[in-house]
Amino acid sequence: MSDRTIPEHIAIIMDGNGRWAKEKGLPRNEGHRRGTKALEKIISHADKIGVKHLTVYAFSTENWRRPQDEVDGLMKLFGQYIDKELKKVDKDSHRFHIIGDLESDVIPEELKAKIYLLQEKTKDKPGMCFHMAFNYGGRDEILRGCKKLIQDVQNGIVVLDEIDETLFSGYLDTKNIPDPDLMIRTSGEERTSNFLPWQLTYSEFYFTPCMWPDFTTKEFDKAIDAYNHRQRRFGKSE
Ligand code: FPP
Repeated sequence: MSDRTIPEHIAIIMDGNGRWAKEKGLPRNEGHRRGTKALEKIISHADKIGVKHLTVYAFSTENWRRPQDEVDGLMKLFGQYIDKELKKVDKDSHRFHIIGDLESDVIPEELKAKIYLLQEKTKDKPGMCFHMAFNYGGRDEILRGCKKLIQDVQNGIVVLDEIDETLFSGYLDTKNIPDPDLMIRTSGEERTSNFLPWQLTYSEFYFTPCMWPDFTTKEFDKAIDAYNHRQRRFGKSE
């Protein structure tokens, strides 16, 4: 489709790495490694075709409960991904930004430092904003936002009657980021799993049986084509 509308913001739940690996008799962490490769291709493609914001669910607040060797393997992958990005930071055009509880002590300090460095080095990049949901939980984000807002009310910075949806959105990790137009989930599961509950209210959902490591740029374009056949009404009658 040449005259298709490119969604301004696409959110993805990259699901199915474990099942992909199991089907092939490989360790789960190999699924995550192949999932990272799939992600790298999607980031470049999305930036190239004009997506302005891409948000992916990389690690949830609940994922810490996975077996320690899987968590360690994922942390290693995040570290390696960031090292690689830092090396080519001058060539890349996209911005890197984390949503999630980055201040938490559960995140290894060395990884945290790398994340802050990559965010700082890419903050003025002109291309797409790549938001990685890391140590992210939607309900946790809303609660953290509520606590900050209550503090501001107590300190007289915000008046209770001023609080509306726009003001509250500014207390979330996604401050200044438009809500996703399209949310893609791979692996055949059809739920949102605590991913962006506030922000996905009016998003179009696209579910595909494709496992994340097999998700190619062609699959991504198929999701955009499906989005182009949706009619978005935002609660209005037409
Ligand atoms: C869900 O598959 C996937 C995750 C919990 C991790 C997603 C992470 C990546 C794609 C790679 C990491 C990204 C970077 C940038 C290093 P699952 O393990 O729940 O799969 P399953 O449902 O088949 O078990």
